[in-house]
Amino acid sequence: MSARAQLTEAEAAFVAGQRVARLATSDASGRPHVVPVCYAWDGARFVTPLDEKPKRVPDAALRRVRNIEARHEAALVIDHYEDDWSRLGYLLAEGSADMLPPGAPDHAELVALLRARYPQYQAMALEIRPLLVLTPQRITSWGPALAPDAAGREAEPSGRGLDFLPLARGRRSVRTFQPRPVPRAALEAMIEAARWAPSPHGRQPWRFVVLTQDAPKQALADAMGADWRRTLEMDGQEQAIIQLRLDKSHERIRTAPALILACLYLAELDQYPDADRQRAEEIMAIQSLGAAIQNMLLAAYAQGLDTGWMCAPLFTPETVRAALALDEALIPHALIPVGYEARPPKRRLHRTIGDLIVRFE
Ligand SMILES: Cc1cc2nc3c(=O)[nH]c(=O)nc-3n(C[C@H](O)[C@H](O)[C@H](O)COP(=O)(O)O)c2cc1C
Repeated sequence: MSARAQLTEAEAAFVAGQRVARLATSDASGRPHVVPVCYAWDGARFVTPLDEKPKRVPDAALRRVRNIEARHEAALVIDHYEDDWSRLGYLLAEGSADMLPPGAPDHAELVALLRARYPQYQAMALEIRPLLVLTPQRITSWGPALAPDAAGREAEPSGRGLDFLPLARGRRSVRTFQPRPVPRAALEAMIEAARWAPSPHGRQPWRFVVLTQDAPKQALADAMGADWRRTLEMDGQEQAIIQLRLDKSHERIRTAPALILACLYLAELDQYPDADRQRAEEIMAIQSLGAAIQNMLLAAYAQGLDTGWMCAPLFTPETVRAALALDEALIPHALIPVGYEARPPKRRLHRTIGDLIVRFE
């Protein structure tokens, strides 16, 4: 059992992994009230919306709102139960609580955070509704689901039994995005997912560059465009076609709300005296980069975000490195646009499992 005002890394991972919390408030006379809530954590505060689920009374008359206005304090419990008691855990946050009206500083950012966790909120007008914000003064947590184990490793998260296929099937390559920005926490959650991908010798031979600002996106699009023009001209393509393809690619890079450049990083891999084994070592690293990227794509989709995959950096790594002033040890491989889809993409049929398994005995 431990009590602090900051979340540990294991606690933050636990909080990110759960879907529902219980919010406790009390009225001026101390009469308690508890409700289940959807929530997000922004690194310093818990936030929960007064959303559009059917309620019997208007927002201002809700007991939790009246209680917070009377006492400005609340407690939130996030817990995890399984019949396997080696996976139990809970976190209790107690602190000051306030209502944040629409238009207040941070309101839009917190709404974006909630929408990233719960896609259902994308269809609700949260921007015109108050948010309930709890700033913890005391955090208490307990349980194997949170505790770093004796060797100092993080507790194994319990993903077993999750319905994984809808996630794998639902993810698709999106090529046009709404201008809506992607919260930093959602991008970090994608990198967190990449962190757990399998890799040769566990060395994680990949690094990521995250771009959300216009200037680096523009610099990257310009530099890659100039390179691509040269190769298309070398191929003898018509000028009009070249221009069309370049404009499309430039637009895709420039208008993506966020871009993640996935780079291979070979510096810590084994070195062999012969070329064959060295090549196998590098191929393992590339295979692992693919696994890390897929983890990121699924993590984005799980948060209500969409992603694409652009292979262009692989063809022009030096140019990409120069445009972003990257270290020479980074080998740009893929550019992953991230955002909220503007329209559903056309999608090719994926092969059946019968096509893919060539032998099963
Ligand atoms: C290594 C790799 C490179 C890709 N490069 C591009 C690309 O440059 N441009 C693009 O639009 N899609 C690219 N894609 C996405 C594929 O076109 C897409 O995954 C495929 O058509 C299947 O569609 P889905 O992702 O919607 O299931 C790439 C995918 C992979 C794995």
